Amino acid sequence: MLHINDSRLLNTLDELSEIGATSQGGVTRLCLSDDEVEAKRYIIELMKRAGLEVHVDPVANVIGVLNSAAETKLVACGSHVDTVIDGGRYDGSYGVLAAIEALRSFKESEIKLGHPLAAIAFANEEGVRFPAMVGSKYATGLITLKDVFALRGTDGATFEEALTKSKLELESDSFLAKHIPGTYLELHIEQGPVLENEGKQIGIVENIVGTRQIEVGIHGSADHAGTTPMDARKDALLFASKIIQFVNKLSLELGKGSVGTIGFLEVTPNAPNVIPGEVRLIIDFRNSSANIIDLASSKLNEMVKDTANKDRVQISIRQRADLPPADMTDSIASLIQEITDDLGLTWRRMQSGAGHDAMIMRRIADTGMIFVPSKRGKSHSPMEETAGDDLIHGANVLANTLMKISK
Ligand code: GLV
Ligand code: MN
Ligand code: MN
Repeated sequence: MLHINDSRLLNTLDELSEIGATSQGGVTRLCLSDDEVEAKRYIIELMKRAGLEVHVDPVANVIGVLNSAAETKLVACGSHVDTVIDGGRYDGSYGVLAAIEALRSFKESEIKLGHPLAAIAFANEEGVRFPAMVGSKYATGLITLKDVFALRGTDGATFEEALTKSKLELESDSFLAKHIPGTYLELHIEQGPVLENEGKQIGIVENIVGTRQIEVGIHGSADHAGTTPMDARKDALLFASKIIQFVNKLSLELGKGSVGTIGFLEVTPNAPNVIPGEVRLIIDFRNSSANIIDLASSKLNEMVKDTANKDRVQISIRQRADLPPADMTDSIASLIQEITDDLGLTWRRMQSGAGHDAMIMRRIADTGMIFVPSKRGKSHSPMEETAGDDLIHGANVLANTLMKISK
């Protein structure tokens, strides 16, 4: 079995986590922010040092290719280097760095491979600034370049403006549209407690839950907090609080693994002595069944329609993102399982409650995901942590699975 360079992988993880490091001990690299662009430049340099042929496509997906002369189907792997606000150092970065490390190890070991391979850092996976999975959606043809450019971030900038500001040198063609991957593998931290609780070293993902995000604008009236009687107010935040309570109760009632979150709230003018006139919030519903997500959305619509009038507020509502649930490819899961056994590691099959580029890549390629344990199940938090040994085990499973597929 092939063994990647352990210390090199852990060193690159340390180095990358310095970019956008926060005082809380976490990392903030929102899509196309200065820090995320610096992280991309770090990845580009690392790919060059690894001897890969580097492509940066029109939406800033960074792709490092090995064995590009082979005329067989591309075998791709990767993840993302953008993060949430004060996120952890492993979410996304681990999968990208392990992918580069795997390809670098193949090159150094002079292993003969029958397929071209690509390590990819997808653009804007997280969906904090812009709606999620822009890079993989563009790569798979689910969104056009024109529509990507027009996306507006939570800060008001368009994706096109953010790309121009980044000064990244972008190619004019989509490398992944020209070289469509036959297989995609993604290595990631679990981001939940299951593997740690069961003392398992590797998670083999069978399916990824779907996510729908709905943006609601609540339009009330910004009036004086002292002089406006309680019964004459149009308080947008008061109505937002009703939506927040409703989404929580609805998700509990729907059960079957349903989760509903409101993690983004913008209050205008956001002053202690002014009644909130405008609120913008984003609801995030997840379930492994698309029908349950549909049901949650329609119940939310009903509630908003039925009660906004009574509360004298106006509502605008739009779908921000819709990522259907995705089943991973059985034969790839079986192969990962076989490799994990051969490496003498323990495993369990599991579901992913987090979204990943793998759910998009599944539309065009045989796809598999490998998880490693997250300490205390923490993620999207500075407390995110995975033991060095576990990181190395996951990278070895990835490398050997890639090798077997690319023979
Ligand atoms: C990405 O991490 C997501 O699941 O939202
Ligand atoms: Mn991730
Ligand atoms: Mn994430």
